[in-house]
Amino acid sequence: MKPERYDDLLAQLDPTRLPRHIAVIMDGNGRWATRRHLPRSAGHKAGAEALRRATELCRELHIGCLSVYAFSTENWSRPAEEVGFLMRLLVEYLHSERSLLRQQQIRLGFLGRRDGLPAEVLRALDETLAETASYQEMQLNLAVNYGGRDELRRAVQALVAEAAAGRLTAAEVDEAKISAQLDTAGLPDPDLLIRPSGELRISNFLLWQGAYSELYFCDKLWPDFGKRDLLAAILEYQKRDRRFGAVKR
Ligand code: FPP
Repeated sequence: MKPERYDDLLAQLDPTRLPRHIAVIMDGNGRWATRRHLPRSAGHKAGAEALRRATELCRELHIGCLSVYAFSTENWSRPAEEVGFLMRLLVEYLHSERSLLRQQQIRLGFLGRRDGLPAEVLRALDETLAETASYQEMQLNLAVNYGGRDELRRAVQALVAEAAAGRLTAAEVDEAKISAQLDTAGLPDPDLLIRPSGELRISNFLLWQGAYSELYFCDKLWPDFGKRDLLAAILEYQKRDRRFGAVKR
């Protein structure tokens, strides 16, 4: 079957039913590189280009928020050389993407734990976060040194500290208070969670926020994931019947 043209896919979109927040597990960079007899680092570089395409399309479609999993709390167990490359790529990416973020008025967000990240990464992150803080058109969240369980642990820790200080009782802990302690505080939960590369897992990404996300899996590897693939995912999302646990009337 011939793949549908970008413009044809675009024409099928219902602009009134776009996801407000899309989350992506950018998986398959290593396999993409290995299939081309290239070092894994080449796959990560191509993955950064795929991220640019996805950001541009979300901005074009006025999707308010894109969250991408760039480095998990578990990724530190990769070979030191690969971890070092990913950290350098992140710094390079933050420097090179600033003009796109400025031009398109995209605010950067950070999901994850600061401790453990190299000083150069924190500096580049903080500079970009500050420079883009007032932009309103879209938010791009980079999840770096991020784990959903770790994020919940930090939230529980913050609530326990509030309780210990006498500002919170156990009975007052509700879902809104937990959400407010997460790295995504103030943002809508992801409507659509995309994982390319054929793996059918959530892998510790946005565990709390993804409770009702529509899941979209496909076989393409992330570096090959283009604007057409993102449109296809959104079109599939628009076919889903979202009930949030209720019965359809
Ligand atoms: C998973 O693919 C991908 C990662 C652990 C890194 C994701 C990073 C990027 C896409 C780079 C661009 C992002 C920034 C912000 C610099 P994998 O390496 O596990 O692939 P595999 O499963 O095929 O081995």
